[in-house]
Amino acid sequence: MAFAAAVVAGVRVRAGNKENNDMKKIIIIDGGPRRNMNTAQMLRRFAEGVTSVDESIEVKTVRLYDLDYKGCMSCMACKVKGRASNVCKFKDALTPLLEEIAQADGLVLGSPIYFGDVTGQMRAFLERLSFPWLSYNDYSMTAPKRMPVVLIETMNGLPDRNNSNGYGSMEYCIASALGEPEHLAAYNTYQVKDYGRFELASFSEEAKRRWRDAHWEEDLQKAFDAGRRMAQGAADGLLR
Ligand SMILES: Cc1cc2nc3c(=O)[nH]c(=O)nc-3n(C[C@H](O)[C@H](O)[C@H](O)COP(=O)(O)O)c2cc1C
Repeated sequence: MAFAAAVVAGVRVRAGNKENNDMKKIIIIDGGPRRNMNTAQMLRRFAEGVTSVDESIEVKTVRLYDLDYKGCMSCMACKVKGRASNVCKFKDALTPLLEEIAQADGLVLGSPIYFGDVTGQMRAFLERLSFPWLSYNDYSMTAPKRMPVVLIETMNGLPDRNNSNGYGSMEYCIASALGEPEHLAAYNTYQVKDYGRFELASFSEEAKRRWRDAHWEEDLQKAFDAGRRMAQGAADGLLR
């Protein structure tokens, strides 16, 4: 699928029509399959937070499930002597996105938790993003550019009772190469809109509704505020 078709919410608002070479770009990666459910809504609110501060910041949301790509192929092209690269050299639908992230001013990753981890799509993406950063000469992790990062996860689990490893071992790579990430989690999310339709007897729809009424707006607000903070950093020239 063409890269352009996979970009579902590229928001570009400029003051007037003037091209601005200093225009900042924040890339949001949606690692969940569902277009309008919990993870997607959190990411949308983040994007709204960014543009509420500065409409000239380009916010691009990419849905990994719309792209046809593989995890790291172990081709070692990024580590060839004299031609080592800290951006993945393997060519597929992820290539333009990885090149774009290398020059971005901020990165946001969002994923539902599946069996305790981020989705397989997110994990495969992170392999491609991170392996070229790793030097097997000295085990340093170097991205082309450091930038603020926010990691978002949504799950059934509760704050004090969940099985989430979040971004797991990939988080060390992100922190080393891009900078220490900020975390946001939405707990006890609505997994389906109508609990009566499915075999989900271990969940009480009533308890879910009570949790949602008490927390969901706040979760979305936290995403919005995180977007505002990232945009404010950009406006203040604080983006690394
Ligand atoms: C395949 C699958 C595995 C899941 N595994 C977990 C899990 O291990 N822990 C958990 O808390 N929630 C788990 N969930 C629930 C989702 O993480 C939760 O509903 C999430 O908010 C869904 O995000 P979405 O609405 O953006 O799709 C799982 C859901 C699916 C479909």
